[in-house]
Amino acid sequence: MGSQRTVALLVAGVLFALCGHCRASCPERNLEDREDEANIVLTGTVDEIINVDPVHNTYSCKVRVWRYLKGKTSVGREILLDGGNKVMIGGFGNPGICDNQVSTGDTRIFFLNPAPEYMGPEHKTELMLNSSLMRITLRNLEDVEHCVEEGTGTRLYLPLAQYPPLLAPHS
Ligand SMILES: *[C@@H]1O[C@H](CO)[C@@H](O)[C@H](O)[C@H]1NC(C)=O
Repeated sequence: MGSQRTVALLVAGVLFALCGHCRASCPERNLEDREDEANIVLTGTVDEIINVDPVHNTYSCKVRVWRYLKGKTSVGREILLDGGNKVMIGGFGNPGICDNQVSTGDTRIFFLNPAPEYMGPEHKTELMLNSSLMRITLRNLEDVEHCVEEGTGTRLYLPLAQYPPLLAPHS
């Protein structure tokens, strides 16, 4: 009996560990392609969650922007909020995007595009999530910067010291 239980626990443990790979059912495209498709890439912190659609489980967020890694000039004045420090981002919960969920206070790298025309005028002031959210680590920042530089052929020359303390790696 005892050993049977041990085996059962072991099996449960192995299944649980394997479940780390469940995400493979939503394969992440490579970073270079994601960077290519997004006209705007920025780091920011979720300030407020709004426009929750209870049917589709989608929502928008007001995000405080720390830094543009790409496409600052593509962000029109009509998109900027609160004196230009914040933007509205839609498309959270989009099932076509693997990592599509945030909570208030989360800091992430966002891959974005302006909302397409067909979404109508109410989205004109929003940027849309284009692919998965990415955690802020030194490694991730460097990888994204590298992709942007490859795309534009220019160095960004942005020292990490520009980051507010909360964006320090592993915080
Ligand atoms: C991401 O942007 C590309 C255009 O660069 C577009 O074709 C694609 O549909 C967008 N993906 C999502 C999930 O909106």
